[in-house]
Amino acid sequence: MRCILKDKVAIITGASSGIGAATARAMAQAGIDVVLVARRRDKLEAVAQSVRALGRRAHVIVDDVSDSTHVPRVIDETVRVFGHFDIVFANAGYGMERPMHETSDAEVRRMFEVNFFAAVALLRAAAHQLQNARRGGHLLMCSSCVSKFSLPGHGLYAATKAAQESVCRAMRFELAHSGIEVASVHPVTTTSEFFEASAARSNLPAGDVPAHAPRWLVQSPERVARAVVACLRHPKSEVWTSFTVRFSAALFTLFPSILDTVMRREASRQRAEKAARAQLTSAAVQGESSRYYW
Ligand SMILES: NC(=O)c1ccc[n+]([C@@H]2O[C@H](COP(=O)([O-])OP(=O)(O)OC[C@H]3O[C@@H](n4cnc5c(N)ncnc54)[C@H](OP(=O)(O)O)[C@@H]3O)[C@@H](O)[C@H]2O)c1
Repeated sequence: MRCILKDKVAIITGASSGIGAATARAMAQAGIDVVLVARRRDKLEAVAQSVRALGRRAHVIVDDVSDSTHVPRVIDETVRVFGHFDIVFANAGYGMERPMHETSDAEVRRMFEVNFFAAVALLRAAAHQLQNARRGGHLLMCSSCVSKFSLPGHGLYAATKAAQESVCRAMRFELAHSGIEVASVHPVTTTSEFFEASAARSNLPAGDVPAHAPRWLVQSPERVARAVVACLRHPKSEVWTSFTVRFSAALFTLFPSILDTVMRREASRQRAEKAARAQLTSAAVQGESSRYYW
């Protein structure tokens, strides 16, 4: 079945950059009007401009998704401006690279607040609204490929993404009778602000993608956006953009010892990198102090 997208209305969180911004433009190209949600107004306005240039309406809502009053505000404002909505893409999220035992309780709670609780609250409220409107609809969350296999240094992030996937899968069957589709999206390494922000949060050197990520794995946000729009046209439970990674995830489930070997190597790479950085820092500090001796 092919769904008609023209004149639908979509709410997209995390729409100020990366996957959210690219999806807003891809949806506009497919004839969808968009409500753009994030914290940075200037970035949202720029995305809204590009949507309008494609001939569709865009409305900006500046909000922090972890604010407890965020969900009713976004839903009420969308209905006030557009009269209704059909699609919700809960995409706002962030990452951080740190071993679990070095992660504070506040960091654990904060990441779940933004990546998981906010997305769940939005989809729950949207599901009620769509059921009452009896027009069907489509709900999506931006999970990740790491929902299927956790990585050293990314345990917390992977946990939020696995939790998202679990919720989407259950909601898909709970809402099927109402004509509401639910899907989780599983991007692989994507060029966006994600890794710069994650590096800053983790006190690591910045880069648009991790230096050790294989180049063949790196994708553009537009690639993910096209897959999201394809899923709106032909609904499915999971959106993947890399067959190789999806196939590897299946192999890892069948043969966890393969994953163990890969992850042991990754953990030692991270330890070696951390030791090298510590050595460089101490050499720099010594260099600084020796300047004062001479
Ligand atoms: N990049 C990747 O390799 C990759 C891979 C798999 C999955 N993902 C997932 O894809 C989604 C989008 O990430 P991206 O790659 O496009 O990264 P990005 O460019 O950093 O975008 C993240 C978006 O989330 C918004 N956001 C973050 N915290 C927020 C908050 N508290 N309230 C409102 N908005 C918030 C940011 O906007 P403001 O800063 O303006 O608020 C931004 O628009 C995330 O859920 C991420 O986990 C990314």
